[in-house]
Formats: sequence, structure tokens, C-alpha cells
Amino acid sequence: MRYALLGLTLAAVLLAACSSTSVPEPHAAPEGAEAEAASLVLEQGRRTYEARCDRCHELYEPREYTRAQWTRAVKKYGPRSGLARKDYATVEAWLHAGAKDAK
Ligand code: HEC
Repeated sequence: MRYALLGLTLAAVLLAACSSTSVPEPHAAPEGAEAEAASLVLEQGRRTYEARCDRCHELYEPREYTRAQWTRAVKKYGPRSGLARKDYATVEAWLHAGAKDAK
């Protein structure tokens, strides 16, 4: 019984020590406004992609190609899709986010 109590006390001390020395994640996800802005960009990119890129063929899934392939495709087919200058980056962001080799 004494040993059980001792063990519990030790565990409590260790827990306290660990939580007080915990450091923030080095690569914590962006929070708040930044994350919201990023998801708005992705949403805008998805909408533009779906509205503009399905005129000549079925839409390809983002995961079907790598980021480099998407960059080439957007450059090649953007002009034929009537993409506005500002749409290139958002469409590419959406495709890159779901790409085969997405980060
Ligand atoms: C004016 C018609 C047209 C539009 C609009 C169009 N595509 Fe295509 N796309 C094609 C054709 C045609 C092919 C088949 C290419 C071939 O025959 O080599 C193709 C093929 C592709 C491929 C397969 C890889 C390749 O290059 O062959 C990808 C990826 C692609 N398109 C992405 C897009 C994206 C992204 C958009 C919107 C920005 C888009 N396409 C809009 C005509 C179009």
C-alpha cells in the first residue's frame, strides 16, 4: 500500500513537471485569421476550377497529378479557359493542396 501511494505521488510530480515544461509545436498549424484567409483562397480556387476547367473535358481530381504537373496544366490551359490573371494563383493553390505529392 505504501508503495502504491508512493507511485501515485511520483506520477503526479512527473505529470506536473512535464506539463510545465511543454514547448509549443515547432510547426503548429496557422491559426485564426491566417487559416481563415488560406481556406477562403482554396475555396475560391476550387470554385473557379470547377467553373472554368470543365468545358473541354471532365474535371481531373487534384490527386491525379503532382504539383509540378498542375503548375504546367494551369499555365497551359488557363488561357484557353479564360482565367482572369488573379485566378491563376487561387486555382493552382487548390490543385496543389490536393495534389499527389501535396505537402
Ligand atoms: C479549351 C479546352 C480546354 C479547357 C478550357 C481546359 N482544358 Fe485541360 N485539356 C484540354 C485537352 C484538349 C486536353 C488533352 C490534351 C492532349 O490531348 O494532350 C486537356 C488535358 C488536361 C490535363 C491532362 C494533362 C495534359 O496536359 O494532357 C490536365 C491536367 C488539364 N487538362 C487541366 C486543365 C485545367 C486545370 C484547366 C482549367 C484551367 C483546363 N484543363 C481547361 C482542353 C482544355
